[in-house]
Amino acid sequence: MKVLAINCSPRKNWNTAQLLKSALEGAKSVGAEVEYIDLYDLNFAGCRSCMLCKRKGAERCHCYWKDELSPVIDKVFSANVLFIGTPIYLGRPTSQYFAFMERLHFSSLSYDDYSNYFKGNVNVGMFITMNATKEFYDKLYKAKFESYADDFKALNGEVSLYPCYNTLQVKDYSKFNMASFNEEEKKKVHDEHFSIDLENAYNLGVRLNR
Ligand SMILES: Cc1cc2nc3c(=O)[nH]c(=O)nc-3n(C[C@H](O)[C@H](O)[C@H](O)COP(=O)(O)O)c2cc1C
Repeated sequence: MKVLAINCSPRKNWNTAQLLKSALEGAKSVGAEVEYIDLYDLNFAGCRSCMLCKRKGAERCHCYWKDELSPVIDKVFSANVLFIGTPIYLGRPTSQYFAFMERLHFSSLSYDDYSNYFKGNVNVGMFITMNATKEFYDKLYKAKFESYADDFKALNGEVSLYPCYNTLQVKDYSKFNMASFNEEEKKKVHDEHFSIDLENAYNLGVRLNR
């Protein structure tokens, strides 16, 4: 099994990254070959509308723009499992996530009849991390993020969405103007729940690779 994890958070070892790394550990434990990519390390932008992927005779599911994202798109289409993680920024996934998704989807979309060129099968585990509590998420974000996760149905596999609530955003809240957050409460939630989230991520890594 080939497993790819894409971190769509700019932070390399914080909440989103740790969940993705734990999922990869789970995948490795059942023999998968894994690769981890920090999206913010790559030099790329959204679709340039070059239309090369829509040329007659063009390779399907391939982005022709020559930059650091196109090889990642090839890797997604040839993986067995994709783990993708994004923090919630202002109620949505990060901007780099959207740029990536634009390129991924356009390269597999037929402009003849709007069908899906991709005929393979990639299971997807999507992690989202946020300041929001579960209650807030359920009320304001859940429907929206389930719909973002649905975009991955175009990869024809199982899609599993894992929301990780009320994360620790900074190590020391006293250094910042962040009075709307209660540091003690944040740390308590982190200490009690984040290890469970990591374990759940690990287990998802195992399950999607069976
Ligand atoms: C620019 C920015 C916008 C954010 N907007 C939201 C938001 O709308 N809702 C929310 O619950 N958390 C929001 N957060 C908090 C992050 O989603 C949260 O800290 C997340 O766990 C960060 O992921 P990371 O630790 O992997 O970087 C925001 C953080 C930043 C930096």
